[in-house]
Amino acid sequence: MAEKLYALEFKDVSLAFGDRVVLNRVSFRVRYGESKIVMGGSGTGKSTILRLVLGLLKPDMGRIFVDGEDITDFNEEQMMGVRSKIGMVFQEGALFDSLSVYDNVAFRLREQHVPEHEIEQVVVRMLRFVDLEEAMDKMPNQLSGGMRRRVGIARALVGSPKIILYDEPTAGLDPITARTICELVLKLRDLEEVSSIFVTHRLQDIEVLAREYVIRDDKGDLFFEHEGDRMCLINTKFIMLREGDVIFSGTNAEMHMSDDGYIKKFLT
Ligand SMILES: Nc1ncnc2c1ncn2[C@@H]1O[C@H](COP(=O)(O)OP(=O)(O)OP(=O)(O)O)[C@@H](O)[C@H]1O
Ligand SMILES: [Mg+2]
Repeated sequence: MAEKLYALEFKDVSLAFGDRVVLNRVSFRVRYGESKIVMGGSGTGKSTILRLVLGLLKPDMGRIFVDGEDITDFNEEQMMGVRSKIGMVFQEGALFDSLSVYDNVAFRLREQHVPEHEIEQVVVRMLRFVDLEEAMDKMPNQLSGGMRRRVGIARALVGSPKIILYDEPTAGLDPITARTICELVLKLRDLEEVSSIFVTHRLQDIEVLAREYVIRDDKGDLFFEHEGDRMCLINTKFIMLREGDVIFSGTNAEMHMSDDGYIKKFLT
C-alpha cells in the first residue's frame, strides 16, 4: 500500500499510439499543495498526461497514482470516485453551448442529483470566486474568451477538488486576462492548498506562477506579493517534455540556469 506522499505520481509511464511513442517512461511527482507546470511543444503529450490522470486513457506500461492510490488498473466505476477528487479545466474551456453559465457550473451537481437549493449556493460561490456572478444568466456565445475560461474554472471547482488539472487555460488570451486566470490559480494554490498540473506555453504564466504568491489579511483582502528572496514560499515546480521524455524537472531558477538548447529556446 503506497503512502499518501504525493497528490499525483507517474512512475515510468509509457504510451504509444500505433508506432508513435508519445510518453517514454515518464516519471514525476506532484506533492500535496504543489503546482506542477508542464511545458513542451505541441504534440509532446501534455494533454495526454492529463487524460491518463483522469483514466480516460490507460498507459501501456508504468504506474499512475492519484492521492496515494494506484489507479492504473482501475475500472470505469472506480475511476468515477477518483475523478470526483479532480477538477479539470479543458483546453478552450469546453463549455456546453446550449447551457447558461449557471447551468454549466451546476451540471455535475445536477448529475449527482444534489438538491437545487444546495446547487444554487455552490454555483454562486464558485462564480463569485472567478468574479463572474453577474454573468450567470448569459450563454457561452455571449462571453469573451477569458470569461469562458473562468466559467471553465468555476465548473472545475465544483465539489472543492483538492487536485486541479489545467490544460492551457491561458492560451490565446490577452496578457491582462491571462493574468486574472493565473491569479485564480495562485489563490487555489496558496489559500486552498490545491495540488495541480498546469499545462502552458506562456512565459508570462511561468513568471506569475513561479514568482508570486497570494496572502489574505485579517479583513479578508487579498494581496499578490513577489517572492523577493522568500523563494521557499513558492510552491511551483516545472517539467519540460520533449519527444516522449522528461528533459527537465525542477524549480524555475534551475530551469533558467539550464544549458539545454531546447530549454533555452523555450525560455526566450
Ligand atoms: N487518441 C489518440 N489517437 C492517436 N493519437 C493520439 C491520440 N491522442 C493524442 N494523440 C497523439 O499524441 C500526441 C500527443 O498529443 P497531446 O494532445 O497530448 O499533445 P499536447 O502536448 O497536448 O499538444 P498541444 O500543445 O498541441 O495541445 C500527438 O501527436 C497526438 O496526435
Ligand atoms: Mg494539448
